[in-house]
Amino acid sequence: MDPARPPTIADAVRCLRQGGLVAFPTETVYGLGADALNPDAVELVFQTKGRPPANPLIVHAADPEMAQTCAAEWPRDATVLADAFWPGPLTLVVPRAPNLPARVTAEGPTVALRCPDHPVALDLIRAFGGPLVGPSANPSGDVSPTEADHVRRAFPPETVMVLDGGPCRGGIESTVVLLDGLTRKVLRPGLISAEQLAHALHRHVEPFSPAKAALPGPLASPGLLDRHYAPKAPAWRFSPDQWPDVLDRLLDEDGVAVVLTQSPRSLPSPHARIVMPTDARNYAARLYAALREADATGPAWIAVEWPPTGVESDPIWDAVGDRLRRATAPFE
Ligand code: TXA
Ligand code: MG
Repeated sequence: MDPARPPTIADAVRCLRQGGLVAFPTETVYGLGADALNPDAVELVFQTKGRPPANPLIVHAADPEMAQTCAAEWPRDATVLADAFWPGPLTLVVPRAPNLPARVTAEGPTVALRCPDHPVALDLIRAFGGPLVGPSANPSGDVSPTEADHVRRAFPPETVMVLDGGPCRGGIESTVVLLDGLTRKVLRPGLISAEQLAHALHRHVEPFSPAKAALPGPLASPGLLDRHYAPKAPAWRFSPDQWPDVLDRLLDEDGVAVVLTQSPRSLPSPHARIVMPTDARNYAARLYAALREADATGPAWIAVEWPPTGVESDPIWDAVGDRLRRATAPFE
């Protein structure tokens, strides 16, 4: 392949057939794709990401039929939700099929499945002709990639082929919901809310609970580790009423800090400000790129104003808040 030419879907399919890794755009974030039925390729995903072996992977399918080949059971709830929200930012956790390599599900009894709403992702899966594992295409613990360049900077080109589909419009990872035939429970909040799921199912869906996710013991969704989606610089979140204290620290600081805020606050020099959108959907789409921009300047620290004030209520703020709680520590 000519290294100057962007890879095509055919190049990517060849790479996947040989057990290689292909990063692909989705409507949420970029995924690190590999043949879900090839145990060595799956192993390579864990190694390349530095992912803890106990954290299972999401499997991406082109349609519900392909998804069902990875499931031992397909509860009625799965049919309803796939009809209502696929392709889209929703991951269904159902009993796993025995033919899936055990590493995909971290040896667990369930598999997480989703059909992404992005033409490049769908073309790739269809041309490959089978399911692809696709964790976010970042080293484990780092901020998820929302642009092809984020992936290219993280992994050498000989390790990961990157399909460039431009910036991801969603910006945060899919909603993960557990469906075991009895329970319906959000394990990771995302752009689709528990209320939307309940509305489609005509049944109660247990919303994501940060308190329960923080309980000790085996993690329901092991990706929900405490420090995750995190920039390299120390990062804090501060509430609007803590602004005077943040300002004091900025005035004392020798280095340069970066503050993400929605309000037009003026910062003492030489500190930098990134103004964030005031509506939830645009905020989510911008968040990871903004954290990366802040981090790229090599700041002494990053501070994010949270929660937003004077904005419209929207369940997407809960998903954004979940990511910020993992990316930052409370300001003291
Ligand atoms: O939007 C997304 O979901 C992106 C794009 C690329 O599709 N993918 C993504 O994958 O965020 P990853 O691997 O970074 O996150 C997968 C999440 C983790 O929190 C993981 O613990 C959880 O899904 N998960 C995977 N399999 C599971 C299972 N069987 N049971 C419970 N949680 C599971
Ligand atoms: Mg991830």
